[in-house]
Amino acid sequence: MPPFQQHSRILANQPLTADVFRLTVHAPEIAAAAAPGQFVMVQVSGSLDPLLRRPFSIHSRGADGSISLLFKVVGRGTALLAKARPGDALDLLGPFGRGFDLSAAEKPICLIGGGMGIAPLLFLAQELPGRKYALLGARNHDELAPLAKAFAELGCAVQLATDDGSLGHHGFIPDLLDEVLPDVSRVCTCGPSPMMRGVASISRQAGKACQVSVETHMACGMGACLGCVMPGADGRQVHVCTDGPVFNAEELAWQL
Ligand SMILES: Cc1cc2nc3c(=O)[nH]c(=O)nc-3n(C[C@H](O)[C@H](O)[C@H](O)COP(=O)(O)OP(=O)(O)OC[C@H]3O[C@@H](n4cnc5c(N)ncnc54)[C@H](O)[C@@H]3O)c2cc1C
Ligand code: FES
Repeated sequence: MPPFQQHSRILANQPLTADVFRLTVHAPEIAAAAAPGQFVMVQVSGSLDPLLRRPFSIHSRGADGSISLLFKVVGRGTALLAKARPGDALDLLGPFGRGFDLSAAEKPICLIGGGMGIAPLLFLAQELPGRKYALLGARNHDELAPLAKAFAELGCAVQLATDDGSLGHHGFIPDLLDEVLPDVSRVCTCGPSPMMRGVASISRQAGKACQVSVETHMACGMGACLGCVMPGADGRQVHVCTDGPVFNAEELAWQL
């Protein structure tokens, strides 16, 4: 399916905390074509400044032709996006990339997200019909609570960890994995690299398949600029934008 350019309308831009927002846009062609783990390239202002689009995972898909994005303000582009209001226009390109493997989706699966890495996992939870666990970590209660609620509403068995101990386990998400692993057929994770490396390592030792969704800097999102390359396990460079962003953990050099 080719990517679409959609001149969409913003339906909502809800602040979840001072710097985390859930942006919902009407983008029916992208919504219809999207698969969990794919991303869109967003023109964050109505002008050509900043010139480069910013990549964001598709966080959820609505039955009304909408998609939502979950983003944290980290720089100029996301600060502009935070100011967007319902009714504003937003130019999107997508969906891009290789998403999560949805074969044998009815088998129990464990979703593990850290920080904004939680974003693509909600869309995945929406599409999985079987038993699912969601192990979610973030800085604190305020960042994690609204996201935990969304996963629970999709039928996930949710376990939480926060950096400051204000909600759930005080520590890191991989600490919770041992208990859940015997019950699942595979693991899908997105978040900071050290967290995903830990999850991939624990999953490998337990003989469970592990898919990781990685983030790199991206200028084009479609395989043209080499901005997103990283080393693959076979020594060749992979394009995160077209070969990923979702990989089997053993496809990447970093997991070792
Ligand atoms: C496939 C993909 C999916 C993504 N999904 C989400 C998402 O769902 N939610 C979300 O909040 N963010 C997501 N990101 C990251 C998001 O694209 C960046 O946060 C955003 O582009 C920053 O734009 P900015 O103009 O605000 O920051 P800039 O001003 O461009 O940069 C601010 C700071 O952030 C760093 N930075 C920017 N982009 C990245 C990156 N890709 N990786 C590591 N550091 C970066 C810069 O080095 C700089 O230090 C995703 C990235 C990729 C590649
Ligand atoms: S972002 Fe340009 S090649 Fe991947």
